[in-house]
Parts: sequence; C-alpha cells; structure tokens
Amino acid sequence: MVVPYTHEPFTDFTVEENRQQMLAALKKVEKDLGKEYPLIIGGERITTEEKIVSVNPADKEEVIGYVSKANKELAEKAMQVADKTFETWRKSDPKFRADILFRSAAIIRRRKHEFTAHLIKEGGKPWKEADADTAEAIDFLEYYGRQMLELKDGVKVNSRPIEYNQYHYIPLGVGVVISPWNFLFAIMAGTTVAAMVTGNTVLLKPASATPVIAYKLMEVLEEAGMPAGVINYIPGPGKEVGDYLVDHPRTRFISFTGSRDVGTRIFERAAKVQEGQKWLKRTIIEMGGKDTIVVDNEADLELAAESIVQSAFGFSGQKCSACSRAVIHEDVYDEVKNRVVELTSELSAGNPYDNSHFMGPVIDQGAYDKIMDYIEVGKKEGDLLVGGTGDDSKGWFVNPTVFGDVDPEARIMQEEIFGPVVALTKAKSFDEAIDIANNTEYGLTGAVITNNRTHQEQARQDFHVGNLYFNRGCTAAIVGYQPFGGFNMSGTDSKAGGPDYLIHHMQGKTSSEML
Ligand code: NAD
Ligand code: ALA
Repeated sequence: MVVPYTHEPFTDFTVEENRQQMLAALKKVEKDLGKEYPLIIGGERITTEEKIVSVNPADKEEVIGYVSKANKELAEKAMQVADKTFETWRKSDPKFRADILFRSAAIIRRRKHEFTAHLIKEGGKPWKEADADTAEAIDFLEYYGRQMLELKDGVKVNSRPIEYNQYHYIPLGVGVVISPWNFLFAIMAGTTVAAMVTGNTVLLKPASATPVIAYKLMEVLEEAGMPAGVINYIPGPGKEVGDYLVDHPRTRFISFTGSRDVGTRIFERAAKVQEGQKWLKRTIIEMGGKDTIVVDNEADLELAAESIVQSAFGFSGQKCSACSRAVIHEDVYDEVKNRVVELTSELSAGNPYDNSHFMGPVIDQGAYDKIMDYIEVGKKEGDLLVGGTGDDSKGWFVNPTVFGDVDPEARIMQEEIFGPVVALTKAKSFDEAIDIANNTEYGLTGAVITNNRTHQEQARQDFHVGNLYFNRGCTAAIVGYQPFGGFNMSGTDSKAGGPDYLIHHMQGKTSSEML
C-alpha cells in the first residue's frame, strides 16, 4: 500500500547540523568535478570525441563535467532503440513503472544533500533554491508514481446488460523530452519520468548548460530497476539534435520546457506531417513568462514589498514564474516602491558556495549579456532605483535591479528578461491594474496583494494566468498542491504536478464487448 502523497520538506540551513552536512556534501561533490560523462543509448555508454563542457556559473574556470555530445547519427540510433524498446515497455505493468519512480525518490532522498550540492555547482543555485529543486524532483517522482497507480485501471464508463464497456489510457510511443537549465533537476526529472511512467520510451535531451544532473538521474533510474532503452540520454546541440528529433516521423510526442522562441519553433515543426509519419504529433510545450504582482490600495504593504523582492530575485530572477513587473495602486505606490528599494539594497549576489548571499550568478555569458543589455534599455524606459551593475570577471553576477515609473508598454514591461530585474508601474485603480497585468502575450503566474475580497474575486475571474496567488509571491508552486502551467504564449497549460498531467502522455482507448 502506497502512503498518501505529501511534498518533500525543505531543509532549514540555519540549523548548524544541516549546514555542516551541506558543506560536507559540497566537498564530496568537488571530488567528481571534471569527470567525463558518456551518452546512454539502450543502456550502452557511448563516448564521443566532441564534448559539452558544463561549468560552474559562479566560477567559470571550474569544470563540472565533460559530457559526450550527440549528433544526428547518434540521435537516430537512440530513436531506433527507443522505438524497439517501446514494443515491450508499452506492455509493462504500470505498478512496476511506478515502483521505479518510488525507488528512485528513495535513492535521491538518501543522498539529498549530495544532489543539492551538485545543483549549487552546476546551476549556480543558492542553497535554499537548490534544496527546493531537489525536493521538487523527489516530489515529481512520488506524485507521478501515485498518479499512474490511479490511472492504471482506466476510468469508469457506462455499460449495459448486454454490453461491457471499458475506457483505458494507453501510451503514445517515443517521446522527445527537451528540458531547460533553470530547474535543472526538478523539471528535467519531472518531464522525463512523466513520459516514462505512462509507458512511453524517451529520448532525453537536457539543456547544454546543465547536462550532468541528467546523467545522475539516469544512474538513479537504472539503480532503481529501469530497463535499458526505456530512457536514452542524448545531450546535444538544440538546433541539430532537437530539430532532427522534432521532425522525425517516428517521434510520437514532444515534451518541451524552455523559451518562447524555441517552443513556438517546435510547435510549428511538429505540426508538419513528415513522409511515413502515421500520426499527428502531440506537443506539451511550456514556455516563458512576464509575471506580475498587483498591489491594491487596501493591502499589507510590507507583505507586498517582500513578495515582490522575493519573487523577483530568488534564483536571480531565472524562474519562468519570477516577478518581473509590479503594478501598484497609485495611493500606495511610493510607500511600496521605497520599501522594495530598501529590501533590495540589503541583497547581494555572489558565489553560493558558503550560503552567504541571497543571490548567485546567472547561468552563462549569453544570459549575462542579455540581462545587461536589458538594463541599458531599462535606463531609457524608467528610473533606475537600485542595482543596474554586474561583474562577469570570475562568474556571471548581476546585482538585483529595480526600475520605477515604467510605462506598461515599455520593453522591460513586456519582454522576458530572465534575470534579476523588476519594473514598477503605477495604476489609477484596481481595474486598471488588472488590465495592465494582462497586457503581455504571456500568462504564466501572477499574484495579487489585497485585503479587499471583492477585488480578490475580480482577479480570480479576470487576471488571465495559469497560476494565480493571493497575498504571497508568484513563485514556488509545489507539486500536487499548485499544478503549474501557463496560458497564452506561456504554453499549452499542461499543468506539471497536477492531476491531468500524465494524461497528456497517453491516449484513451475504448473497448466494448457484447455479453
Ligand atoms: P531554451 O528554449 O533556450 O532551451 C530549452 C531547451 O531547448 C534546451 O534543452 C535547448 O538545448 C533546447 N533547444 C534549443 N533549440 C532547440 C531546437 N531548435 N529544437 C529543440 N530543442 C532546442 O530555454 P532555457 O534558456 O533553457 O530556459 C529558460 C526558458 O525556459 C525561459 O524562457 C523560461 O521562462 C522557460 N521556462 C518555462 C517553464 C514553464 O514551466 N513554463 C519552466 C522553466 C523554464
Ligand atoms: N514551479 C516553479 C515555480 O513555481 C517554476 O516557481
């Protein structure tokens, strides 16, 4: 009997014992730095000449690992293995598949700080953020395992005295899972195991900035009993390997999480029916956000400022859910703005190694340059209130930055920056605040800080986002508690960590028998 799902608790690093354990885990992880990691296709380890070099974004000279790089030929080999393995895996017992997830969760939980230490190094995550990423990976394993057990016998439909009807979900086929670097463990693991536990075989292409953690997940799944060929690990260049597999006629579905540009490219390419293709490809596509916190004039203003700052600068704003805009009622604008500036001034960005900074680095040079460019744009579009500086000499550090009095249509109010930059704007009324909050092409998360129950209900109806929060920040959804996914150009709203998620990876089959 499986115990009911509850989310994995977070670690309190103010407890000295936990702090010491984390420091010890970091030392342990350091022994593995610079190791080589092969591809895994059909269980076979394949080493390529060309490598992806994964580095610590807080210390560019520190190499996390040299990872073999797939190309079209190796992607094709992996496709053939996955296609063949599907013939047996699709008939495997869902309980056996769920058990692999439960066992994997137990393995990770036993070595939790070690995984977290790895995320601090490979993802540049502050301790708290890395611990939450590990916890979320465990949650996905536990939650999707249980969801599969609930779905395995299908859903009850009506029968008649002479007719026995059944409705079941069956797997789709080979799925291509393409994951981002920001939740390098949780999203990569969640999207991969959701595809696998539903009876599909998988080609896993992790982000090139963070491929090592995906290799570590493969090791865990193998230790937990996953047969060879079920998930194939093929890191490689997005354009070459990604396009090849998205276009492939044997690809049955694509599960992508990443930017709007790549997501829409995949959506378009997947829609084209290729020669020999026997189905319409399913796409699960979760993309960016331009997430807003609305502050009403009847609100706890300290809570408002704290929510804006935490949601804007946690993990340096590199969350699809991060608050990058705050729309504040004009009656309370100055008070909230001043407090946001005060709280932001207390924060610093630095190497997360010893947990002495609220923020770590941003992921790479490309991200650093893009964010610094947006800061220049912001200087023309609003008042720079705090921050605006960065340092890419040792790692890629951008200081938390706040712009005030920004026009709702300005670029920094519309485009996803994906860094520690938040823009504040004023609204004349609550109605206008909601209109501004809805004025981007995205619709992922949002929060409303208000003590006015009528306004709360109004936002529930009119604030068009997939994840809406009241009197708290707009980040930190928990698997099984706040199913996560966005509207409009934020994606297909597949709601990761929710009761409908696994069904996107399956198809319904009706069978009807005359008695
Ligand atoms: P990205 O789009 O650059 O890359 C995501 C993945 O796509 C990577 O594995 C990359 O190698 C791959 N890729 C690149 N080109 C490809 C192609 N032509 N075909 C197939 N795959 C290709 O995104 P990123 O920088 O890794 O992640 C940040 C973005 O992800 C942000 O926009 C963020 O908002 C979004 N995100 C969304 C969610 C969500 O749930 N909605 C969660 C996390 C991140
Ligand atoms: N699930 C992550 C959050 O809510 C993206 O912040």
